Amino acid sequence: MSLIEYLSAGAVYAICLLMPYLMFRVFYNNYYHDLRKFPGPLLATITDGYAGYHGLRRALPEATWKDHQVYGSVMRYGPNRLVFDTATALRDIYKNPRFTKSRVYLFSLAGPSPFIFNALDQDVHMRKRKMISPALSERSLRDFEPTMLESIDLFLKLIAASGSEPVNLTDRCRRLSMDVAVQLGFGCSLNLQTNHDHDFIFQGISIANYRINSYMNFPALSNLQLDLILKNTPMRAKWHNTVAKMVQARLSVGRDAKRDFYSFVMGNLEVDSDDIKHSELFAESLFFLSAAGDTISTSLAAMFFYLSRNPDCYQKLCNEVRSAFDSSTDIVGGVRLASCRYLRACINEALRMSPPIGGTLWRQVADEADSTPLIIDGHVIPAGTTVGVNIYSIHHNKRYFPDPFKYKPERWLSETFTDDQDDVGASEMAKAFSPFSIGVRSCAGKAMAYLEMSLLVAKTLYCFDFAEVPGPLGQVGTWKDKKFRASEFQTFDALTSRHDGPYLQFTSRDTFA
Ligand code: HEM
Ligand SMILES: *[C@@H]1O[C@H](CO)[C@@H](O)[C@H](O)[C@H]1NC(C)=O
Repeated sequence: MSLIEYLSAGAVYAICLLMPYLMFRVFYNNYYHDLRKFPGPLLATITDGYAGYHGLRRALPEATWKDHQVYGSVMRYGPNRLVFDTATALRDIYKNPRFTKSRVYLFSLAGPSPFIFNALDQDVHMRKRKMISPALSERSLRDFEPTMLESIDLFLKLIAASGSEPVNLTDRCRRLSMDVAVQLGFGCSLNLQTNHDHDFIFQGISIANYRINSYMNFPALSNLQLDLILKNTPMRAKWHNTVAKMVQARLSVGRDAKRDFYSFVMGNLEVDSDDIKHSELFAESLFFLSAAGDTISTSLAAMFFYLSRNPDCYQKLCNEVRSAFDSSTDIVGGVRLASCRYLRACINEALRMSPPIGGTLWRQVADEADSTPLIIDGHVIPAGTTVGVNIYSIHHNKRYFPDPFKYKPERWLSETFTDDQDDVGASEMAKAFSPFSIGVRSCAGKAMAYLEMSLLVAKTLYCFDFAEVPGPLGQVGTWKDKKFRASEFQTFDALTSRHDGPYLQFTSRDTFA
C-alpha cells in the first residue's frame, strides 16, 4: 500500500470510530442536556468549534447576528453557552451581582497578575476599579485635555501637510489614539504619528487580541500549544519591552512628577517583584494601552467613513460645528461642545453600527457552588451556563433600531433621548445601546472616549472639508457583502477590531492657521 492509501484507510477508521461519538454528542446535547430546549446551529450544540471557526475568521459578530435572524433572540452558541440580543437580557446579565466574568477571560492573563479586565474576583476587581476610576474621571480629564489637544493638533497638521493626497484614516486614527493613550498612561510620547519606529505595538496588540479572542470562544484551541508561537513573536517581545521601559522610566521620576494614569495608581499597585513584567503595575499598563488605544481608533475611522458617505449628515454636522465655535482653538471640552447634539448623535450612531468591541462579553455565576437557576429575559437558565449578549447583534436588532444597517444619527435626536442606560426615562433604544457595556464591568474610559472623539471630529470639520476618493482606493473599508452591509464600515473582530481605510481627500478651509 502507498502512503496515501495508508492515510486514507486511517482516515476511514478514524471516522468510523468518531461517528458513534459524534452521534452520541448530538443525541445527548440535544435530548438530555439542560440547554436542549434552546435553539441554535446544530454544530454549536456539540462543539465550541462552531463559534471558534467564525472567531478565527474574525467574523464572529456577523455570524452571531445572522444566526439570531434564524434562531431568535436566545440561541445556544456552544454546548454550554447561550447568547442573547435583547435589552432585557443585557440588564438581566450585566447588572446581576450573581454574575462575574466567565473563566474564559483568564486566557487574557499576560503574566501572573490579573488586571482590571480579567479580575474575576469581585473584591479584587472593585479595588482595582476604585483605583483606576479617578484617573479617568471628568476632573482628571480636564487636567489631561491640553495634552490630548496637542496630539489632535498634530493630527490636523499632518492632514494639512498631505495636501490633496488621499489619507488612510485607519492609519491616522490609530496613530493618534495610541499616542494619546501613551501620554495619558505614562506622561511621555512615542511620537507614533510622525515616527514609525514603534509600529510593532500595533501588531503586538493585534496578535495578542486575536489569540485571546480565539481561546475565549473556542477554549479547546488553547490545548494545541500554539502559545509557543503566539507568545513568542518578536512583536510581542518588543512591545512588552517598550511598555516595561516606559513603566520603569515613569517610576524613576516619582509619583507627582506628572498628572497621568500613573500618578493615580502608583503606590497602590504592587511593583516590587524582581521582574517588572511580573508586576501588577505592568499588567495594568499593558491593558491600559490596548483598552484606550485600540478602541477609539475604530470609532474614529468609522465616523470618517460614515460622514464621507452620508452627505446629509456631513452637512448637518458641519453646520452645527462651524456655527457653534469661532475658531478651531475655541473647540475644547465644556458646555459648548456638549451642546453639539448632532455631533453626539453621529458618534453614537458610529458606535452602534461599528462597535469597537463587537463580540459577546461572556459571563458566569461568580460562586461555583451557587446552583439556583437564573432568569434571563424570561428564560430559566441553569446556573452553570455561560451567557452573554453580543454587542454587534443587539446593535443591529431591528426591534430597537429600524433599518439597522443605515447610518441615521437622527434616531438619537428624539426629545427624551439619553444615552445613559441607567436613566429611568431611557427609551428601549437607549437601553439596547451598549458599546461600552453596562453595569460594574462597563468601560471605565467612556468619558475620555467621548471627549477624544468629539474634539477630534469637531476640529477636523472646523478646519477641513473632506470627501471620499474616487476609484478603488475609495472602496477600501467597504464590505464585499452588499446584501446587508453595503453602507457599513468593514471591521474584523478579534476582541477589538481591525479595519482599513476609509481613504479621504481633505481641503483646508481658510480658517485653518
Ligand atoms: C470608543 C472607545 C471604547 C469602547 C467602545 C470601549 C468599550 C469597552 C467595553 C465593551 C468594555 C467591557 C469589556 C468586558 O466586559 O469584557 C470596556 C472595559 C474597559 N475599558 Fe473601554 N472602551 C473604549 C475606550 C476606553 C478608553 C479610552 C479607556 C481608558 C482610557 C478604556 C478603559 C477601559 C477599562 C479600564 C475597562 C475595564 C473596566 C472594568 O472591568 O472595570 N476604554 N471598554
Ligand atoms: C491603511 O493603514 C493601515 C494601518 O496602518 C494599514 O494596515 C493598511 O494596509 C493601510 N491601507 C492600505 C490600503 O494601504
